[in-house]
Amino acid sequence: MCGIVGYIGEESAPPILLDGLRKLEYRGYDSAGMAVPGGKEINLRRVEGKLSNLELLLKKQPLESNMGIGHTRWATHGRPSEANAHPHLCCQNKIAVVHNGIIENYMELKEELIARGHKFRSETDTEVLAHLIEELMDGNNLEQAVRLALKKVEGSYALGAISVDDPSKIVGARLRSPLVVGFSNKGFYLASDIPAILSRTKKVSFMDDHQMVVLKRDRVSFTTLDGEPVEKATIIIEWDALMAEKGGYKHFMLKEIYEQPRVIEETFQRVKLKEDSVDLPDVQLTDKELAGLERIFIIACGTSWHAGLVGKFLIEKYVRIPVEVDIASEFRYRDPIIKPNHLVMAISQSGETADTIAAIAESKEKGAKVLSICNVLGSTISRESDGVIYTQAGPEIGVASTKAFTTQLTAMVLFTLYLGGKRGTISSEEARGIITDLRKLPEQARELLNNDEEIRRCAAEYYQRQDFLYLGRGINYPIALEGALKLKEISYIHAEGYPAGEMKHGPIALIDEKMPVVVVATASGVYDKVLSNIEEVKARNGTVLVCATEGNDQIKKRSDHQFYIPETREDLSPILNVIPFQLLAYHIAVLRGCDVDQPRNLAKSVTVE
Ligand code: AGP
Repeated sequence: MCGIVGYIGEESAPPILLDGLRKLEYRGYDSAGMAVPGGKEINLRRVEGKLSNLELLLKKQPLESNMGIGHTRWATHGRPSEANAHPHLCCQNKIAVVHNGIIENYMELKEELIARGHKFRSETDTEVLAHLIEELMDGNNLEQAVRLALKKVEGSYALGAISVDDPSKIVGARLRSPLVVGFSNKGFYLASDIPAILSRTKKVSFMDDHQMVVLKRDRVSFTTLDGEPVEKATIIIEWDALMAEKGGYKHFMLKEIYEQPRVIEETFQRVKLKEDSVDLPDVQLTDKELAGLERIFIIACGTSWHAGLVGKFLIEKYVRIPVEVDIASEFRYRDPIIKPNHLVMAISQSGETADTIAAIAESKEKGAKVLSICNVLGSTISRESDGVIYTQAGPEIGVASTKAFTTQLTAMVLFTLYLGGKRGTISSEEARGIITDLRKLPEQARELLNNDEEIRRCAAEYYQRQDFLYLGRGINYPIALEGALKLKEISYIHAEGYPAGEMKHGPIALIDEKMPVVVVATASGVYDKVLSNIEEVKARNGTVLVCATEGNDQIKKRSDHQFYIPETREDLSPILNVIPFQLLAYHIAVLRGCDVDQPRNLAKSVTVE
């Protein structure tokens, strides 16, 4: 998964491209590059490693132009290296291409191009595009050549291309990889994602699959891949550039953890939340369809899958419809049994996760309605769904998902209230109680975040441990999974989440004084069972860190450390209980000197299989 940017206008392009790439580094950061048109050839600068290396190179060997394209890479084909960095050039160095996606038939195309005399300089799939366009420029302008080249391509792409033989334009195209066009009075922008251009313009258009765009100094024109003109709406993005910046925090992840009170509130304030009911007009399902629902499939990956697991508890309890929660990469290949009266719910922060997109396509082929919970307006998943519930988390830049998760849980509560209201399975008294407690969560989260001393103490005491076990029961079992995922993905410590009741069926063999055991032990219908599990750990010299409800002094005798959580109803407790685990993972990772916002091997949105 990579980030691409392009600019054409009255200003110098290199600083704009570099700034845009910096805002996209979270999409991939193992190499980077930039290209602008020279006289007879493209002028190219590329580096291995982080964007700061490109910045250094540009200082030594500056580029000058009022147009250009840039790229920051997360390798899918070809190891991270300067030769494999984008932009890629054709044989005569007259065409440059940047690309996010996968050309699935690139080997076949590459062999054919080599047989026709083309010389390749990289191991990437992308380079075939530069050579294909080069061949097809004969008698064609750049957009015609790109169009013909893409007809030969199988796979996914968000593409930017320039040519010295057809200068003063940037051609873009998209298929199953995001691409956005920005408009300002100083020029036009092409980017993989909004943060890249937000400091320049808030006026954007999201490209759809099989669409192309030509950016010139004086105009932008959209067409289909067949060249048919397309009218595109422009959207004013409400995020400001600062929101996409760190806001004074050391890391994006910490900023985003502390944004949770506000974005949880915004997520339920943006819907029609009354005293005892919720209306979700974007769900786009008729009352008849909602009344006839007999099963719900929730599909997602990673943290979003954990949100789905919490959703299962809520929907089954309050709506009494069976809910299956599937990891998207499993769902898409297991030939699921989906009937017309089944609903598929996709959960995704980025809206661009390839496995989830493919699972949606599979669901639609089988006739299901698709509803998504998504954080990015105009993203592929939001546009492929019949209905959308938008989380209002704003840009989540840290690779480890935090505010997206708690707003996904909030959206799940809203959907449960909405569906239960439509199907008459939730009394107005029950709904009123849940909504009252939901409205308290932002302030309770603020209180939690302002009392992180014990979490910092635990991070300092345990950051060098090699293994952690997280335990939870019922609706908080997914929070144990999420706590473990947070720790492992940013601190590289091995951590496992388990249902607490499962410990005696194997993991208890792991318990010793070296492995901290983190337990969700807030007030619940299974609290006594959780206490027993804590005893089992203590009896084997285990160290126990617990999330416990404020006022529960009894648990101090049975655990080594307590993270106290403001009292809320069990069904909403996952939204608060996860916060100490996010902070614990963050502080441990910082103490271990890890790259918190850009952990090794990871990317913010996995747009490849
Ligand atoms: C979570 O911290 C990870 N970054 C990862 O598991 C993520 O949740 C997963 O890749 C799904 O991404 P999505 O929500 O954008 O679809």
